[in-house]
Amino acid sequence: MTRKSNMVIFMILAVFATALQSSLGQNTYVVGDALGWLVPPGGDVAYRTWASSKTFTVGDVLVFNFTTGVHDVAEVNKADFDSCRGTSPISISTNGPTNITLRSAGEHFFICTFTRHCDVGQKLAINVLASSTSPAPQPATPPPETTPSPVATPAPPVATPAPSPSRPPMTYTVGDSLGWVVPPGGPIAYETWARGKNFMVGDILVFNFTSGAHNVAEVRRAGFDSCNGSSAITTITTSPARITLSTAGEHFYICTFPQHCPIGQKLAINVTGTNAPTRPTPPSSSAPTPSSTATPPPSTNSPSPSSGSPTTPSTPTTPSPVTGPPPPDSSASSFGVAALPFSLLSIALAFLY
Ligand SMILES: *[C@@H]1O[C@H](CO)[C@@H](O)[C@H](O)[C@H]1NC(C)=O
Ligand SMILES: *[C@@H]1O[C@H](CO)[C@@H](O)[C@H](O)[C@H]1NC(C)=O
Ligand SMILES: *[C@@H]1O[C@H](CO)[C@@H](O)[C@H](O)[C@H]1NC(C)=O
Ligand SMILES: *[C@@H]1O[C@H](CO)[C@@H](O)[C@H](O)[C@H]1NC(C)=O
Ligand SMILES: *[C@@H]1O[C@H](CO)[C@@H](O)[C@H](O)[C@H]1NC(C)=O
Repeated sequence: MTRKSNMVIFMILAVFATALQSSLGQNTYVVGDALGWLVPPGGDVAYRTWASSKTFTVGDVLVFNFTTGVHDVAEVNKADFDSCRGTSPISISTNGPTNITLRSAGEHFFICTFTRHCDVGQKLAINVLASSTSPAPQPATPPPETTPSPVATPAPPVATPAPSPSRPPMTYTVGDSLGWVVPPGGPIAYETWARGKNFMVGDILVFNFTSGAHNVAEVRRAGFDSCNGSSAITTITTSPARITLSTAGEHFYICTFPQHCPIGQKLAINVTGTNAPTRPTPPSSSAPTPSSTATPPPSTNSPSPSSGSPTTPSTPTTPSPVTGPPPPDSSASSFGVAALPFSLLSIALAFLY
Protein backbone atom coordinates (compact mmCIF):
# COMPACT_ATOMS: atom_id res chain seq x y z
CA MET A 1 0.00 0.00 0.00
CA THR A 2 2.58 2.51 1.06
CA ARG A 3 4.97 1.32 -1.58
CA LYS A 4 2.26 1.83 -4.07
CA SER A 5 1.73 5.36 -2.96
CA ASN A 6 5.43 6.01 -3.21
CA MET A 7 5.36 4.65 -6.71
CA VAL A 8 2.52 6.95 -7.55
CA ILE A 9 4.39 9.91 -6.21
CA PHE A 10 7.48 9.09 -8.20
CA MET A 11 5.46 8.53 -11.32
CA ILE A 12 3.80 11.89 -10.90
CA LEU A 13 7.20 13.44 -10.47
CA ALA A 14 8.50 11.77 -13.57
CA VAL A 15 5.54 12.85 -15.66
CA PHE A 16 5.84 16.35 -14.34
CA ALA A 17 9.53 16.54 -15.20
CA THR A 18 8.97 15.13 -18.65
CA ALA A 19 6.18 17.54 -19.43
CA LEU A 20 8.27 20.42 -18.24
CA GLN A 21 11.23 19.36 -20.30
CA SER A 22 9.40 18.81 -23.53
CA SER A 23 7.67 22.12 -23.17
CA LEU A 24 11.00 23.84 -23.18
CA GLY A 25 12.02 22.78 -26.62
CA GLN A 26 9.60 23.71 -29.33
CA ASN A 27 8.41 27.25 -29.48
CA THR A 28 8.17 29.24 -32.69
CA TYR A 29 8.81 32.95 -32.54
CA VAL A 30 8.08 35.40 -35.33
CA VAL A 31 10.91 37.89 -34.97
CA GLY A 32 9.44 41.29 -34.20
CA ASP A 33 5.95 39.79 -34.18
CA ALA A 34 3.71 41.88 -36.43
CA LEU A 35 6.58 44.17 -37.26
CA GLY A 36 8.38 41.39 -39.05
CA TRP A 37 12.04 41.60 -40.06
CA LEU A 38 12.75 45.01 -41.50
CA VAL A 39 14.54 48.25 -40.81
CA PRO A 40 12.81 49.13 -37.57
CA PRO A 41 11.93 52.81 -37.64
CA GLY A 42 12.77 53.20 -33.99
CA GLY A 43 16.26 51.77 -34.33
CA ASP A 44 17.61 48.60 -32.85
CA VAL A 45 15.61 49.06 -29.68
CA ALA A 46 12.75 47.35 -31.50
CA TYR A 47 14.42 43.95 -31.70
CA ARG A 48 16.19 44.36 -28.38
CA THR A 49 12.84 44.97 -26.76
CA TRP A 50 11.28 42.10 -28.61
CA ALA A 51 13.99 39.69 -27.52
CA SER A 52 14.07 40.86 -23.95
CA SER A 53 10.68 39.39 -23.25
CA LYS A 54 11.52 35.91 -24.49
CA THR A 55 13.35 32.88 -23.30
CA PHE A 56 14.89 31.02 -26.19
CA THR A 57 15.75 27.37 -25.90
CA VAL A 58 17.58 24.98 -28.18
CA GLY A 59 15.02 23.60 -30.59
CA ASP A 60 13.01 26.80 -30.83
CA VAL A 61 12.37 28.24 -34.28
CA LEU A 62 12.79 31.86 -35.29
CA VAL A 63 10.68 32.99 -38.22
CA PHE A 64 12.25 35.96 -39.99
CA ASN A 65 9.38 37.42 -41.95
CA PHE A 66 10.70 39.64 -44.72
CA THR A 67 10.21 40.42 -48.37
CA THR A 68 12.62 38.55 -50.59
CA GLY A 69 14.96 40.92 -52.40
CA VAL A 70 14.39 43.71 -49.91
CA HIS A 71 16.07 42.12 -46.91
CA ASP A 72 17.94 39.00 -45.96
CA VAL A 73 18.99 37.38 -42.73
CA ALA A 74 22.51 36.30 -41.86
CA GLU A 75 23.75 34.70 -38.71
CA VAL A 76 27.07 36.28 -37.81
CA ASN A 77 29.54 36.27 -34.97
CA LYS A 78 29.57 38.92 -32.31
CA ALA A 79 32.27 41.04 -33.92
CA ASP A 80 30.39 41.15 -37.20
CA PHE A 81 27.19 41.88 -35.34
CA ASP A 82 28.76 44.79 -33.52
CA SER A 83 30.29 46.21 -36.67
CA CYS A 84 27.40 45.21 -38.96
CA ARG A 85 29.69 43.30 -41.30
CA GLY A 86 27.87 40.75 -43.40
CA THR A 87 30.70 39.56 -45.59
CA SER A 88 31.54 36.39 -43.69
CA PRO A 89 28.29 35.11 -42.26
CA ILE A 90 27.89 31.79 -40.50
CA SER A 91 24.78 31.29 -42.60
CA ILE A 92 22.63 33.48 -44.76
CA SER A 93 19.15 33.22 -46.20
CA THR A 94 17.88 35.48 -48.93
CA ASN A 95 14.35 34.11 -49.19
CA GLY A 96 11.68 35.43 -46.87
CA PRO A 97 10.14 34.28 -44.73
CA THR A 98 12.94 32.16 -43.34
CA ASN A 99 12.69 29.71 -40.48
CA ILE A 100 15.82 29.25 -38.43
CA THR A 101 16.00 26.53 -35.83
CA LEU A 102 18.19 27.36 -32.86
CA ARG A 103 20.53 24.41 -32.68
CA SER A 104 23.03 25.43 -30.04
CA ALA A 105 23.01 27.15 -26.71
CA GLY A 106 24.67 30.50 -26.20
CA GLU A 107 24.54 33.79 -27.99
CA HIS A 108 23.26 34.05 -31.54
CA PHE A 109 23.51 37.12 -33.72
CA PHE A 110 21.47 37.97 -36.79
CA ILE A 111 21.69 40.91 -39.14
CA CYS A 112 20.39 42.01 -42.51
CA THR A 113 23.31 42.41 -44.90
CA PHE A 114 21.64 44.97 -47.13
CA THR A 115 23.53 48.22 -47.11
CA ARG A 116 22.96 50.18 -43.91
CA HIS A 117 20.04 48.06 -42.75
CA CYS A 118 21.97 46.67 -39.83
CA ASP A 119 23.51 50.02 -38.97
CA VAL A 120 20.11 51.54 -38.44
CA GLY A 121 18.75 48.70 -36.40
CA GLN A 122 17.94 45.56 -38.39
CA LYS A 123 19.86 43.32 -36.06
CA LEU A 124 18.95 40.79 -33.42
CA ALA A 125 21.01 39.32 -30.61
CA ILE A 126 19.61 36.54 -28.48
CA ASN A 127 20.76 34.13 -25.84
CA VAL A 128 19.70 30.53 -26.22
CA LEU A 129 19.43 28.20 -23.27
CA ALA A 130 20.28 24.54 -23.42
CA SER A 131 17.20 22.45 -23.86
CA SER A 132 17.99 20.39 -20.81
CA THR A 133 16.25 21.27 -17.62
CA SER A 134 16.17 24.28 -15.46
CA PRO A 135 17.30 27.82 -15.54
CA ALA A 136 20.93 27.22 -14.80
CA PRO A 137 22.92 29.62 -16.96
CA GLN A 138 22.68 33.35 -16.59
CA PRO A 139 21.27 34.59 -19.85
CA ALA A 140 22.60 37.79 -21.31
CA THR A 141 19.19 38.87 -22.41
CA PRO A 142 17.13 38.97 -19.29
CA PRO A 143 14.64 36.20 -19.08
CA PRO A 144 11.02 37.08 -19.26
CA GLU A 145 8.11 36.50 -17.04
CA THR A 146 6.49 34.20 -19.50
CA THR A 147 7.83 30.95 -18.38
CA PRO A 148 6.70 28.19 -20.56
CA SER A 149 3.99 26.43 -18.71
CA PRO A 150 3.90 22.68 -18.89
CA VAL A 151 1.35 23.11 -21.62
CA ALA A 152 3.48 24.30 -24.48
CA THR A 153 1.78 27.34 -25.83
CA PRO A 154 3.73 29.97 -27.70
CA ALA A 155 4.24 32.72 -25.18
CA PRO A 156 0.90 34.28 -24.38
CA PRO A 157 0.75 38.04 -24.12
CA VAL A 158 0.49 38.67 -20.46
CA ALA A 159 -1.37 36.81 -17.86
CA THR A 160 0.48 33.88 -16.55
CA PRO A 161 -1.61 34.19 -13.48
CA ALA A 162 -0.47 31.19 -11.55
CA PRO A 163 3.18 31.51 -10.65
CA SER A 164 3.29 34.97 -9.23
CA PRO A 165 4.77 34.87 -5.81
CA SER A 166 4.73 38.28 -4.29
CA ARG A 167 7.89 40.23 -4.85
CA PRO A 168 9.09 43.69 -4.04
CA PRO A 169 7.64 46.45 -6.22
CA MET A 170 9.41 47.05 -9.48
CA THR A 171 10.00 50.21 -11.46
CA TYR A 172 9.56 50.03 -15.21
CA THR A 173 10.72 52.73 -17.59
CA VAL A 174 8.12 52.64 -20.33
CA GLY A 175 9.78 51.80 -23.64
CA ASP A 176 13.11 51.41 -21.87
CA SER A 177 15.68 53.56 -23.67
CA LEU A 178 13.13 54.59 -26.27
CA GLY A 179 11.27 56.51 -23.58
CA TRP A 180 7.76 57.84 -24.10
CA VAL A 181 7.69 59.18 -27.63
CA VAL A 182 5.77 58.86 -30.85
CA PRO A 183 7.22 55.48 -31.71
CA PRO A 184 8.32 55.53 -35.31
CA GLY A 185 7.20 51.95 -35.78
CA GLY A 186 3.67 52.60 -34.57
CA PRO A 187 1.81 51.10 -31.62
CA ILE A 188 3.76 47.88 -31.92
CA ALA A 189 6.59 49.49 -29.99
CA TYR A 190 4.73 49.75 -26.68
CA GLU A 191 2.75 46.60 -27.29
CA THR A 192 6.02 44.78 -27.67
CA TRP A 193 7.49 46.46 -24.66
CA ALA A 194 4.56 45.49 -22.45
CA ARG A 195 4.38 41.95 -23.68
CA GLY A 196 5.76 39.40 -21.30
CA LYS A 197 6.06 41.80 -18.40
CA ASN A 198 4.26 40.96 -15.22
CA PHE A 199 2.91 44.19 -13.81
CA MET A 200 1.71 43.97 -10.26
CA VAL A 201 -0.04 46.29 -7.87
CA GLY A 202 2.61 48.44 -6.24
CA ASP A 203 4.86 48.55 -9.30
CA ILE A 204 5.82 51.90 -10.76
CA LEU A 205 5.75 53.04 -14.38
CA VAL A 206 8.14 55.82 -15.33
CA PHE A 207 7.22 57.73 -18.45
CA ASN A 208 10.31 59.51 -19.68
CA PHE A 209 9.52 62.24 -22.20
CA THR A 210 10.29 65.81 -23.14
CA SER A 211 8.03 68.05 -21.08
CA GLY A 212 6.01 70.27 -23.35
CA ALA A 213 6.34 67.91 -26.27
CA HIS A 214 4.35 65.04 -24.76
CA ASN A 215 2.27 64.16 -21.76
CA VAL A 216 0.82 61.03 -20.30
CA ALA A 217 -2.85 60.58 -19.57
CA GLU A 218 -4.45 57.58 -18.00
CA VAL A 219 -7.71 56.88 -19.77
CA ARG A 220 -10.31 54.16 -19.92
CA ARG A 221 -10.49 51.64 -22.68
CA ALA A 222 -12.80 53.77 -24.82
CA GLY A 223 -10.45 56.71 -24.61
CA PHE A 224 -7.55 54.45 -25.43
CA ASP A 225 -9.25 52.88 -28.42
CA SER A 226 -10.40 56.21 -29.83
CA CYS A 227 -7.38 58.20 -28.63
CA ASN A 228 -9.71 60.60 -26.89
CA GLY A 229 -8.13 62.11 -23.80
CA SER A 230 -10.95 64.45 -22.91
CA SER A 231 -12.11 62.33 -20.02
CA ALA A 232 -8.73 61.26 -18.76
CA ILE A 233 -8.49 59.87 -15.26
CA THR A 234 -5.26 61.73 -14.75
CA THR A 235 -2.88 63.70 -16.91
CA ILE A 236 0.76 64.34 -16.14
CA THR A 237 2.63 66.95 -18.10
CA THR A 238 6.01 66.92 -16.38
CA SER A 239 8.64 64.33 -17.10
CA PRO A 240 9.56 61.95 -15.71
CA ALA A 241 6.08 60.88 -14.73
CA ARG A 242 6.08 58.21 -12.07
CA ILE A 243 2.82 56.34 -11.82
CA THR A 244 2.24 53.75 -9.13
CA LEU A 245 -0.03 50.96 -10.23
CA SER A 246 -2.54 50.98 -7.43
CA THR A 247 -5.24 48.72 -8.77
CA ALA A 248 -5.36 45.42 -10.54
CA GLY A 249 -6.83 45.10 -14.01
CA GLU A 250 -6.29 46.89 -17.28
CA HIS A 251 -4.66 50.29 -17.39
CA PHE A 252 -4.47 52.54 -20.44
CA TYR A 253 -2.16 55.43 -21.14
CA ILE A 254 -1.99 57.81 -24.06
CA CYS A 255 -0.33 61.06 -25.04
CA THR A 256 -3.02 63.64 -25.69
CA PHE A 257 -0.98 65.80 -28.03
CA PRO A 258 -2.67 65.91 -31.42
CA GLN A 259 -1.96 62.85 -33.50
CA HIS A 260 0.49 61.32 -31.04
CA CYS A 261 -1.80 58.58 -29.82
CA PRO A 262 -3.30 57.66 -33.19
CA ILE A 263 0.12 56.89 -34.56
CA GLY A 264 1.25 54.84 -31.63
CA GLN A 265 2.01 56.75 -28.43
CA LYS A 266 -0.27 54.57 -26.36
CA LEU A 267 0.23 51.83 -23.83
CA ALA A 268 -2.14 49.21 -22.48
CA ILE A 269 -1.16 46.91 -19.66
CA ASN A 270 -2.65 44.30 -17.38
CA VAL A 271 -1.90 44.58 -13.70
CA THR A 272 -2.25 41.64 -11.38
CA GLY A 273 -2.87 41.82 -7.68
CA THR A 274 -0.09 41.31 -5.21
CA ASN A 275 -1.74 38.97 -2.82
CA ALA A 276 -1.25 35.84 -4.78
CA PRO A 277 -3.19 33.46 -2.57
CA THR A 278 -1.08 30.37 -2.81
CA ARG A 279 1.07 28.95 -5.47
CA PRO A 280 -0.45 25.95 -7.18
CA THR A 281 1.25 23.27 -5.23
CA PRO A 282 1.59 19.76 -6.49
CA PRO A 283 -1.04 17.32 -5.41
CA SER A 284 0.40 16.46 -2.03
CA SER A 285 -1.81 17.57 0.80
CA SER A 286 -1.31 20.21 3.44
CA ALA A 287 2.29 21.02 4.31
CA PRO A 288 2.17 24.71 3.60
CA THR A 289 5.72 25.19 2.52
CA PRO A 290 6.76 28.70 3.34
CA SER A 291 8.29 29.20 -0.09
CA SER A 292 8.05 32.80 -1.12
CA THR A 293 10.30 35.23 0.60
CA ALA A 294 7.37 37.50 0.94
CA THR A 295 8.04 41.02 1.68
CA PRO A 296 4.44 41.67 2.47
CA PRO A 297 2.69 43.19 -0.49
CA PRO A 298 2.24 46.91 -0.23
CA SER A 299 -1.38 46.58 -1.09
CA THR A 300 -2.25 50.06 -0.08
CA ASN A 301 0.94 51.98 -0.27
CA SER A 302 0.24 53.80 -3.47
CA PRO A 303 0.11 57.36 -2.39
CA SER A 304 -1.78 59.42 -4.87
CA PRO A 305 -1.04 58.26 -8.31
CA SER A 306 -4.34 58.61 -9.92
CA SER A 307 -7.03 61.10 -9.27
CA GLY A 308 -6.71 64.61 -10.30
CA SER A 309 -3.45 66.27 -9.76
CA PRO A 310 -2.19 66.99 -13.21
CA THR A 311 1.39 67.42 -12.19
CA THR A 312 1.92 64.80 -9.61
CA PRO A 313 5.56 64.00 -10.07
CA SER A 314 6.87 67.04 -8.30
CA THR A 315 9.77 64.89 -7.33
CA PRO A 316 12.01 65.03 -10.36
CA THR A 317 14.55 63.03 -8.57
CA THR A 318 16.45 60.56 -10.54
CA PRO A 319 13.89 58.08 -11.63
CA SER A 320 15.70 55.12 -10.23
CA PRO A 321 17.74 53.76 -13.09
CA VAL A 322 16.01 50.48 -13.30
CA THR A 323 16.14 50.83 -17.03
CA GLY A 324 16.17 47.13 -17.39
CA PRO A 325 13.38 44.81 -17.97
CA PRO A 326 11.95 42.85 -15.20
CA PRO A 327 14.19 40.64 -13.36
CA PRO A 328 14.03 37.34 -13.79
CA ASP A 329 12.81 34.12 -13.60
CA SER A 330 11.48 33.79 -10.17
CA SER A 331 8.69 31.83 -11.68
CA ALA A 332 10.94 29.61 -13.74
CA SER A 333 12.99 28.57 -10.81
CA SER A 334 9.88 28.10 -8.79
CA PHE A 335 9.39 24.85 -10.59
CA GLY A 336 12.64 23.62 -9.23
CA VAL A 337 11.90 25.04 -5.85
CA ALA A 338 8.53 23.42 -5.82
CA ALA A 339 9.85 20.09 -6.95
CA LEU A 340 12.50 19.97 -4.26
CA PRO A 341 10.33 19.77 -1.16
CA PHE A 342 8.12 17.47 -3.11
CA SER A 343 10.83 14.92 -3.71
CA LEU A 344 12.09 15.34 -0.18
CA LEU A 345 8.63 14.51 0.93
CA SER A 346 8.57 11.31 -1.01
CA ILE A 347 11.94 10.31 0.34
CA ALA A 348 10.68 10.98 3.83
CA LEU A 349 7.67 8.83 3.11
CA ALA A 350 9.92 6.04 1.99
CA PHE A 351 11.66 6.12 5.33
CA LEU A 352 8.50 6.33 7.34
CA TYR A 353 6.83 3.30 5.90
C1 LIG B 1 4.54 38.00 -42.58
O1 LIG B 1 4.27 39.31 -43.05
C2 LIG B 1 3.14 39.37 -43.88
C3 LIG B 1 3.04 40.79 -44.43
O2 LIG B 1 3.17 41.69 -43.37
C4 LIG B 1 1.90 38.96 -43.10
O3 LIG B 1 0.78 38.98 -43.93
C5 LIG B 1 2.12 37.57 -42.55
O4 LIG B 1 1.03 37.22 -41.73
C6 LIG B 1 3.38 37.50 -41.76
N1 LIG B 1 3.65 36.14 -41.35
C7 LIG B 1 3.87 35.80 -40.09
C8 LIG B 1 4.17 34.38 -39.83
O5 LIG B 1 3.83 36.63 -39.16
C1 LIG C 1 8.05 28.20 -40.79
O1 LIG C 1 7.37 28.19 -39.54
C2 LIG C 1 6.01 28.50 -39.64
C3 LIG C 1 5.45 28.60 -38.26
O2 LIG C 1 5.72 27.45 -37.52
C4 LIG C 1 5.31 27.43 -40.47
O3 LIG C 1 3.95 27.75 -40.60
C5 LIG C 1 5.96 27.36 -41.82
O4 LIG C 1 5.40 26.30 -42.55
C6 LIG C 1 7.45 27.16 -41.71
N1 LIG C 1 8.05 27.25 -43.03
C7 LIG C 1 8.95 26.43 -43.46
C8 LIG C 1 9.49 26.67 -44.82
O5 LIG C 1 9.35 25.48 -42.77
C1 LIG D 1 15.14 59.88 -20.08
O1 LIG D 1 15.51 60.37 -21.35
C2 LIG D 1 16.71 61.14 -21.36
C3 LIG D 1 16.89 61.68 -22.74
O2 LIG D 1 16.62 60.70 -23.72
C4 LIG D 1 17.85 60.26 -20.91
O3 LIG D 1 19.04 61.00 -20.85
C5 LIG D 1 17.57 59.69 -19.54
O4 LIG D 1 18.56 58.80 -19.15
C6 LIG D 1 16.22 58.97 -19.56
N1 LIG D 1 15.89 58.54 -18.22
C7 LIG D 1 15.47 57.30 -17.97
C8 LIG D 1 15.13 57.00 -16.57
O5 LIG D 1 15.40 56.44 -18.83
C1 LIG E 1 -14.19 62.53 -26.56
O1 LIG E 1 -14.96 62.12 -25.43
C2 LIG E 1 -15.85 63.13 -24.96
C3 LIG E 1 -16.55 62.58 -23.74
O2 LIG E 1 -15.71 61.75 -23.00
C4 LIG E 1 -16.86 63.46 -26.02
O3 LIG E 1 -17.71 64.50 -25.57
C5 LIG E 1 -16.13 63.92 -27.27
O4 LIG E 1 -17.07 64.13 -28.30
C6 LIG E 1 -15.12 62.88 -27.70
N1 LIG E 1 -14.37 63.39 -28.83
C7 LIG E 1 -14.25 62.72 -29.95
C8 LIG E 1 -13.43 63.39 -31.02
O5 LIG E 1 -14.75 61.60 -30.10
C1 LIG F 1 -5.69 41.73 -20.12
O1 LIG F 1 -5.94 40.36 -19.92
C2 LIG F 1 -7.20 39.94 -20.47
C3 LIG F 1 -7.38 38.49 -20.10
O2 LIG F 1 -6.23 37.76 -20.33
C4 LIG F 1 -7.17 40.14 -21.98
O3 LIG F 1 -8.40 39.75 -22.52
C5 LIG F 1 -6.92 41.59 -22.26
O4 LIG F 1 -6.80 41.80 -23.65
C6 LIG F 1 -5.66 42.06 -21.59
N1 LIG F 1 -5.53 43.47 -21.79
C7 LIG F 1 -4.39 44.05 -22.11
C8 LIG F 1 -4.42 45.52 -22.20
O5 LIG F 1 -3.36 43.41 -22.32
